[in-house]
Parts: sequence; structure tokens; C-alpha cells
Amino acid sequence: MAELKVAVLISGRGSNLQALIDACAEDGFPAEIVLVISNRPEAQGLERAKAAGIAATVIDERTHEDRADFEDQIDSAARAAGAELICLAGFMRLLTAAFVERWHDRLINIHPSLLPAFRGLDTHARAIAAGVRFTGCTVHFVRAATDDGPIIAQAAVPVLPDDDAESLAARVLAAEHRCFPLALRLIAEGRVRVAGTRVAIEGAESRSEVLLNPSDR
Ligand code: GRF
Repeated sequence: MAELKVAVLISGRGSNLQALIDACAEDGFPAEIVLVISNRPEAQGLERAKAAGIAATVIDERTHEDRADFEDQIDSAARAAGAELICLAGFMRLLTAAFVERWHDRLINIHPSLLPAFRGLDTHARAIAAGVRFTGCTVHFVRAATDDGPIIAQAAVPVLPDDDAESLAARVLAAEHRCFPLALRLIAEGRVRVAGTRVAIEGAESRSEVLLNPSDR
């Protein structure tokens, strides 16, 4: 089976990009990153793409006339590279409904909370302030509303009593690095089907054990 061609959009550090690069480098992984696009020239993720020999380009909205022009550039670059799917991996610009529509069900995002809880920014500080015992991350298809769309995969991460936003972010990030490659693999294997607001995954195993925090043992 041909590998699914993927473009990854980033704005910064690119640790999720790295997780996708590493997954794609594994034998038999069904996807290939054909292009990395950053909206920031200083993004560390650009170095990661370079080190992996992946084509990378900067499309900076600050040097574009308007938003439509900026998004057209992204769209054209992704298409020219042959991308069939776009992954948002720490891409810090909101995309317009027009762009989202053009890539309907072919645009996925990773968000550092268990959606629909804690949409938006500062998710870890807000999770701690809310006193939740679990948070986590979500990979979902992108819709026009921010951090909304059919959920493909989630990882639950406990919030520990001494956590601050930084320690919690590090624990969630490790989960993100598993969740994003998993979602990409399932899509690339053709096992993911969007049914309204939900996603069905062919042959996926879900365990039914309960996670308690605090533990009862
Ligand atoms: C991640 O926490 C991701 O969930 C969020 O932005 C962060 C990006 O980190 N959307 P990195 O650039 O992938 O290291």
C-alpha cells in the first residue's frame, strides 16, 4: 500500500513533529512527511525537519497582505508537495473556516487537554486550577470552531498533587508523542471513518479498565 503523504504545520519547538518523524522512519509505518511548514522562521522544528532530510518552508503571516493570502500559500505548498493530510503540530495560528473546509476530514490537530474540556490556551494551568484529577491530550479532525471536531484518539494523564503547569505539561507532552503517531497510523491505514460528530475506528482495541486518581490500593 502506498504511504499517506502528510504535511505538518508547526510554529515552535516541534517535539510533536519529531514524534511524527520518528514514527514515519519506522519500518512499515504507512505515512510519509512530504513537507513541514512553519509560520515562524525561528521555529526549532525547522531544524528537526532539516536533520531528517524533510523539505521545510516558512510561510509567515506577518509578511502576507491578508489572511486569505497566507492560507492560500499554505494550501498551495501542501498541494504542490502532494500532501493528502495536514497535521497541525503546535501550529499557533487559527485557520479560517474556508481553509478548514478545503481540507475537510484531511486536517488533524493535537490539543493538550481532554477535549471538550479546556479548549484554547493555558490548558495545564487551567486544569490544575479546576482541580481535575485527570487531563491529557486529544487528536481530532479540525472544524471551523476552535479545538472542536471529531475525536480520533485521546490519552488520559493523571494530575498529581504537587504538579505545576510545567510538570503537568511535560507529562502530557510524553502522552502527545504517543497519541499523535497513533492517530496518524490509524488514518494512514484507512481505518478511520468520520460519522457525524464521532469517529469510528476499524479493528481498534479499547480497554475497559477504570483509572482511579487517587488510587484505591
Ligand atoms: C503541544 O503541547 C501541542 O499539543 C500544542 O502545542 C504544543 C506544541 O509543542 N498544540 P511542540 O511544538 O510539538 O513541541
